[in-house]
Amino acid sequence: PLRRRTAPAIRAMKGGQPIVSLTAYNAAFAPLVDPLCDFILVGDSLGMVEHGMESTVEVDLDLMIAHGRAVVRSTTEALIVVDLPFGAYEASREQAFSSAARVMAETGCGAVKLEGGVAMAETIAFLASRGIPVMAHVGLTPQAVNMLGGFKSQGHDEAARRKIVADAVAVAEAGAFAVVVEGVVAPLAAEITGAVAIPTIGIGASSACDGQILVINDMLGLTPRVPKFVKRYGAIGEAVSEAVKAYAAEVRQRSFPAEEHTYKPRG
Ligand code: KIV
Ligand code: NA
Repeated sequence: PLRRRTAPAIRAMKGGQPIVSLTAYNAAFAPLVDPLCDFILVGDSLGMVEHGMESTVEVDLDLMIAHGRAVVRSTTEALIVVDLPFGAYEASREQAFSSAARVMAETGCGAVKLEGGVAMAETIAFLASRGIPVMAHVGLTPQAVNMLGGFKSQGHDEAARRKIVADAVAVAEAGAFAVVVEGVVAPLAAEITGAVAIPTIGIGASSACDGQILVINDMLGLTPRVPKFVKRYGAIGEAVSEAVKAYAAEVRQRSFPAEEHTYKPRG
């Protein structure tokens, strides 16, 4: 793992050049992202964008490990962070350690991410003191969608803002090396970034954060509906449709395969 960028190296980028990151889930996209990003997140968003699930709550450890292995295998430079899925870490510090240790041992990734603030601080300290770099995730935490009542932006009243700041401060003090801040009102992202000594990685959280992340399928135009905070940098979905349309037409008119795509007998 040390030939790659490390969690301490990401930690040291606080307040400097913006940290660039994207999710990736497989050996087709990860090597394209690898040389251009500081870290790659194998996010549990893969349940929704790669497996058609309604939320990330259905994702399990085996699925995260399968995708984590594909991404580690196909990259050489970026730090690879793998999400701990819902149900794999919340019960106890010991449960979190055995899940995280399995993810690290079976994928070769350099860090894990988990959702939660004050409630997860003890767990983060437990993992960090036992050799597991932890990225935290506060604000809109998708694994809590059933408590939040939907994928809604957070921090619209002062009490909610105080709670989210307390969450970010707690995970930073517990030893997280960075914290994802998702789907919060812009002034809150700036306040959190000023209040913690670790990098904030924003998604739907304004340019005040120390870095940014997006779900790669969203920014490439591979997902039909995207949240307000997504900017589409590509139209890969349309490119795929055009290619499949051309292929289907040529097969139906027998113009593919052409002679150059066929084998001639040697004797
Ligand atoms: O699962 C995911 O893709 C994430 C990022 C959006 C931060 O957690
Ligand atoms: Na996630």
